[in-house]
Amino acid sequence: MSADNSKTLWAGRYEQQAAVSLRRLNDSLPFDKRMYAEDVQGSIAWAHALARADVLTDSEAAQIVVGLMAVRAEFDSHKFSPAPGDEDIHTAVERRLTEVIGPLAGKLHTGRSRNDQVATDLRLWLRAQIAPLAEQVTALLLTLIDQAEPHTETLLPGYTHVRSAQPISAAHWMLSYAQMLRRDLDRLQHDFDPSCPLGASALAGTAYPIDRERLARDLGFARATANSLDAVSDRDFVVDFLSAAALLMTHLSRFAEDVILYSSPQFGFITLDERYTTGSSLMPQKQNPDVLELARGKTGRVIGHLTGFLTTVKGLPSAYNKDLQEDKEALFDTVDTLNALLPALIGLAGTLRFNPETMRAALDEGLLATDLADYLVGKGVPFREAHGLVGRAVRRGLDTQTPLSKLPLADYEAISPHYEADLFAVFDFAASINKRNVIGGTAPEAVQAQIAALRASISGSTPD
Ligand code: ARG
Repeated sequence: MSADNSKTLWAGRYEQQAAVSLRRLNDSLPFDKRMYAEDVQGSIAWAHALARADVLTDSEAAQIVVGLMAVRAEFDSHKFSPAPGDEDIHTAVERRLTEVIGPLAGKLHTGRSRNDQVATDLRLWLRAQIAPLAEQVTALLLTLIDQAEPHTETLLPGYTHVRSAQPISAAHWMLSYAQMLRRDLDRLQHDFDPSCPLGASALAGTAYPIDRERLARDLGFARATANSLDAVSDRDFVVDFLSAAALLMTHLSRFAEDVILYSSPQFGFITLDERYTTGSSLMPQKQNPDVLELARGKTGRVIGHLTGFLTTVKGLPSAYNKDLQEDKEALFDTVDTLNALLPALIGLAGTLRFNPETMRAALDEGLLATDLADYLVGKGVPFREAHGLVGRAVRRGLDTQTPLSKLPLADYEAISPHYEADLFAVFDFAASINKRNVIGGTAPEAVQAQIAALRASISGSTPD
């Protein structure tokens, strides 16, 4: 056992103590201690692998495993106290193991490096985060579907360029976000990294006859990594996850932006539950959509982690470099951000209410201009020409300040002989959405089918 537990791991070659400023910069324990369970798990598997390779006796491996479990128990019960020399979680666990079981602990690091250790730990850590995150995304997705379902016939102005475009149903609008989340769920559940780096050692591969396939299986990986240099510096799984998270956040941000607009007093299409809004310290009338604004705001931060970490990786020379330590804070903060945001968004989405009358009142007949062109198409007019003939009617309406349905028939007839008295049947918003009964269209029947397919795909993808 080392008498001075502030010594660095590399003290043998060094004559001087590390500078305090170096320690502050270099040490990762303050954040990588989150991986203690995975670090112990990897070490237990490594001890067994060393025993199978006859590097440790079975009894030595057993003592090491018991010691490692004791160290993990200290972390579990928040009794672990870091020592000044604990540079990172790997150092801390080994230091404490040495104090618990004595010099035998020194055999655990045989044939292993912190380079393959950290690459393994972080994969294990990320893997444990996926199911709880996927569960929350699924809950949000189901909430959107539940909210949509009663509103397949509730009319809403559909917008492009934030200008009213064509009538749609409120359900159809909400489900557009459910579709994005459904794809996010697939991206999130994708197996980010099925290969185990342990045994790659520092960079060249371990010098001991370790059965790496067996070791990989013990830790729940599909296989061992195929190239030791690649193994110690491959953080594709971090980038893949950050990218899935950034896209998920981007979708949540767009949803938030729509709901911010639709719940504003100016639109009034949606009412937010008080529990998910905040007041103003100055203006008593305010009800602010902070949850949604934070969804939008925190998206910048998650996208920042993705671009930041890609920037870190892009200039790295071969194998491990300390720059890679930056992987953890990017990953941890992204997971923390999602875990903080999703419950609030689920609550907000589950308690918001549509205001069908306000949405109905916001429909103007301009939304039916395409239907009027379709009417002319029905009379044999080529669409391009019909578009122009409706444009002229719209112009006439603007000039005389008359809605399309109130323009006299004579005005229509003056534009084209194809306009006849039956044209006024076009001014029916419900009929407009009913006509769009194609796969993915806004007709109630098509939207019901969309809901059924979404529900089926969710129950097919998650274990119950
Ligand atoms: N704390 C380090 C990291 O997170 C562990 C690996 C250190 N390896 C080394 N060769 N210094 O990347």
